[in-house]
Amino acid sequence: MSFVLVEKADRIAWVTLNRPEKLNALNNEVLKELEQVFADLEHDAEVGVVVLTGSGEKAFVAGADIAELKTLDTAGARVQALRGQAVFQRIESMPKPVLAAVNGFALGGGCELALACHIRIASENARFGLPEVSLGIIPGYGGTQRLSRLVGKGVALDLILSGEMTPAVDALRMGLVSRVVPQADLRATTEKLARTILSRGPLALRSALAAVNEGIEMPQEQGLQYEAALFGLLAASQDMQEGMAAFLEKRQANFKGL
Ligand code: COA
Repeated sequence: MSFVLVEKADRIAWVTLNRPEKLNALNNEVLKELEQVFADLEHDAEVGVVVLTGSGEKAFVAGADIAELKTLDTAGARVQALRGQAVFQRIESMPKPVLAAVNGFALGGGCELALACHIRIASENARFGLPEVSLGIIPGYGGTQRLSRLVGKGVALDLILSGEMTPAVDALRMGLVSRVVPQADLRATTEKLARTILSRGPLALRSALAAVNEGIEMPQEQGLQYEAALFGLLAASQDMQEGMAAFLEKRQANFKGL
């Protein structure tokens, strides 16, 4: 593993895309490593929250590797899109929260990667964009689908059709990110949020992710049924008893994930 670094501390796994000389652009090797890292983290009982970030202070990820994309033919490009989509789908489907700490350019595949994470926190210098149309292609790693679901069709089409970059402050206004902080505070702010999440009931977190991620793809009536079913299942957990007892006894909950 060389393009994707993993550092684990106190139940948080920091995953850093590490190809700074190419602004952390996603070539096939990076995608392969990223997929393996997330496969491992999914089953790592020592990890409760994953944070994804880019090395350096300039880029989160400046996109799919354009030098690799240029060599693709029709069949190859479709396979490439499906491959990138599969890796990002694995990230979005993680049963534990995945936070993107967006530390700079998040363009093309980099923006799509951030979109696949559950929460996005950006540094003030971050810039978001889907510039694919300026290369004669469209976003192929889920951008046309996830961006429109996240910020609505009108804003998504503005970004996708213009190919323009959006500063973090505007991304916040659009709902593309949920928090913006100075670059120097990005790690601490992300860590603080990760710790807050880690203090919550792990089974509840898992169910909340499933309810939102799967429910958004369902008609609302079906999503409501799904939410109620998960709510019912949690009532059988020790965590629910502990969480409610802790509230009534005015103490911190000690969740076991059972
Ligand atoms: N794919 C491959 N290489 C990339 C890349 C990408 N998506 N983004 C940046 N790089 C490489 C550059 O080619 C350059 O490599 P070199 O030093 O060997 O020439 C290096 O990263 C640094 O980038 P550079 O363009 O010199 O930095 P900059 O500060 O002038 O510009 C960006 C930064 C992000 C505006 C610019 O790199 C850019 O527009 N990148 C492409 C963004 C894009 O279209 N992404 C969507 C891809 S589908």
